[in-house]
Amino acid sequence: MATSISARVANPAATTTSDAIVEVRDIGKRYGDIEALRGINLEFERGKLTTLLGPSGCGKTTLLKIIAGLVPATSGDIRVNGKVVTGPGPERAFVFQDFALMPWATVLRNVAFGLELKGIGLAERNRTARHYIAEVGLSGFEEKYPHELSGGMRQRVGIARAFAVNADVLLLDEPFSAVDEQNRRKFQEDLLMLVEKERKTFLFVTHSIEEAVYVSDRIVLLSPRPGRVSQIIEPSIDRSAAPDVIRRDKGYLDVVEEIWQGLRQYAE
Ligand SMILES: Nc1ncnc2c1ncn2[C@@H]1O[C@H](COP(=O)(O)OP(=O)(O)OP(=O)(O)O)[C@@H](O)[C@H]1O
Ligand SMILES: [Mg+2]
Repeated sequence: MATSISARVANPAATTTSDAIVEVRDIGKRYGDIEALRGINLEFERGKLTTLLGPSGCGKTTLLKIIAGLVPATSGDIRVNGKVVTGPGPERAFVFQDFALMPWATVLRNVAFGLELKGIGLAERNRTARHYIAEVGLSGFEEKYPHELSGGMRQRVGIARAFAVNADVLLLDEPFSAVDEQNRRKFQEDLLMLVEKERKTFLFVTHSIEEAVYVSDRIVLLSPRPGRVSQIIEPSIDRSAAPDVIRRDKGYLDVVEEIWQGLRQYAE
């Protein structure tokens, strides 16, 4: 069966939408002498997944942390649901690149933590946490501690925690980097299902071009430090096709190649 996969190169200046839930306005970030980000303008819609792709050190994690309200921007501002971000909030959930689990707490408590912060009672938060622990395939590990898990399992705890808080905006920083290839593909399918099922706004970071093209509605290519938006690509994938049909489709592979060519200029 033929699929219809193509990519549209969008004009970065013309991405304004009325359905934007996250608005990034002229964001710049310096850490002392290091200029990490410069002049970032982006909007993120509900029900869509946008991937940030770019060389190591171009500021992807920094941008997610600024949107999360964990790190202040040097210039510009972020609006979420029309309100300027001044710190973290329950409408935004972060899955960290380096897990960031509480080492002294069990898997169950880690997953339930966001709900604890929201003041939800023990029985209800444990019920919700168990549901998402099962969803990421970790049933039976509820009482284990992070050091008793593999890297990929810890990442799954982070994903379950982000889903459990039922945030409007999910900030996913390389959530699958420590997961083996088989589980990674399964997670990609789960992620697509969640994007379709729950009308949330997904910001995703990965170093895998294939993964980016497979899961994204839109891919933002960033230049090396200081990170600037260099190109925006919108893969349009016919999701009615089977995963292995999509992954072998010429149109899909062409988009992967096109992005590779775009990033190649930055490779050493
Ligand atoms: N807390 C910090 N203090 C000083 N410099 C920082 C800090 N965090 C990040 N940086 C610097 O800012 C730049 C961007 O870092 P960031 O972690 O955002 O990049 P990244 O695109 O996520 O990279 P990677 O793909 O390797 O995860 C880097 O040069 C990094 O050294
Ligand atoms: Mg990073």
